[in-house]
Amino acid sequence: MGAPVTDQFERRLRDLRVSVTDRCNFRCPYCMPAEVFNESYGFLPKQEILSFEEIERLARAFVALGVRKLRLTGGEPLLRRELPKLIERLARIEGVEDLSLTTNGSKLAEWAQALKDAGLRRVTVSLDSLDPEVFRRMNDRGLPVERVLEGIAAAERAGLSPIKLNCVVRRGINDHTIAGLASHFRGTGHIVRFIEFMDVGTMNGWDLKHVVPKREILQLLSREAALEPVPPGYPGEVATRWRYADGSGEVGIIASVSEPFCKGCTRARLTADGRFVTCLFANGGPSLRDPLRAGATDEELRARISAIWTGRTDRYSEQRSENTDLRSSKIEMYQIGG
Ligand code: GTP
Ligand code: 5AD
Ligand code: SF4
Ligand code: SF4
Repeated sequence: MGAPVTDQFERRLRDLRVSVTDRCNFRCPYCMPAEVFNESYGFLPKQEILSFEEIERLARAFVALGVRKLRLTGGEPLLRRELPKLIERLARIEGVEDLSLTTNGSKLAEWAQALKDAGLRRVTVSLDSLDPEVFRRMNDRGLPVERVLEGIAAAERAGLSPIKLNCVVRRGINDHTIAGLASHFRGTGHIVRFIEFMDVGTMNGWDLKHVVPKREILQLLSREAALEPVPPGYPGEVATRWRYADGSGEVGIIASVSEPFCKGCTRARLTADGRFVTCLFANGGPSLRDPLRAGATDEELRARISAIWTGRTDRYSEQRSENTDLRSSKIEMYQIGG
């Protein structure tokens, strides 16, 4: 293992989020609005996308530089064919302490056991509302919420725990259903996390007035049950944690807008076509696929990754709140997976 690399603000490289596809079978209006992502939309052609072998090689280079957590994202990662084969490769890498996946849950019932058998530790499922109408409107594909609940149940049976549920809260769209979502999962051991709607990408029509800030989310939840703060599970955890005073479980709030957490940001991202993106709100990032396909050695790949991380100065969410950086060109959510 090489020495850990740190960026311009002394932040270490600890986590790698790997997008395995830019496709998704949902059309959440805040990520892939159906009018833009129609049949003629140009998703990445197969040859542009990293193979499993290429992902493994890059992941090994990141791990050698200090990465301990790997998370697979998309688009929707379970649309990538034979995903368990990639998980097997990644689970074997020495030094990986956590291997997880963020999914919309629609295909989880079919895949949960195979993912577990391949070495996946846990899953996080996006679920914005249990209300059938609100859920349908949010995925815009007519998929019933029961499908996602079956996926969560299958993940539980397979032992992919702790299961986390991500709910992006948008004012006037699903904020009236969040207390119901929290109570549904209270006592199940699953952790619901409420996420402030962020200005990711350029297509989600973001406006501060759509954001329900953490303190308001907390008020809505506290009306149903008493909550107590819990210290972070690990340094740089994006969610602040709360437990029910009666011991019936835990919820989280991800307040990237009202309380940015850039100071502890140790996350790197790899797009499906192999670009190295050092912030969720970056314009893009340099290709690691190109040097890899041009024959770079492992040492050269590590040197490239290290040089990019060392030069990193990203702190977009803090700049947003200081009103100093409201970019018009940003990478899209479906390319980066959060
Ligand atoms: P855990 O390891 O379980 O804590 O996962 P996680 O919360 O890091 O990952 P997940 O994919 O569940 O992301 C939860 C939410 O946090 C999503 O809306 C992400 O877009 C957001 N998020 C994750 N990392 C960052 C980050 O570095 N910056 C910002 N602004 N948001 C992030
Ligand atoms: N703001 C906050 N979270 C978002 N997600 C997608 N778009 C946004 C946004 N604009 C969430 C997804 C998924 C996670 C990776 O990011 O619901 O759970
Ligand atoms: Fe798909 Fe997730 Fe984007 Fe929704 S937020 S369209 S589920 S990638
Ligand atoms: Fe990290 Fe960028 Fe998110 Fe800040 S906005 S926490 S720098 S990914």
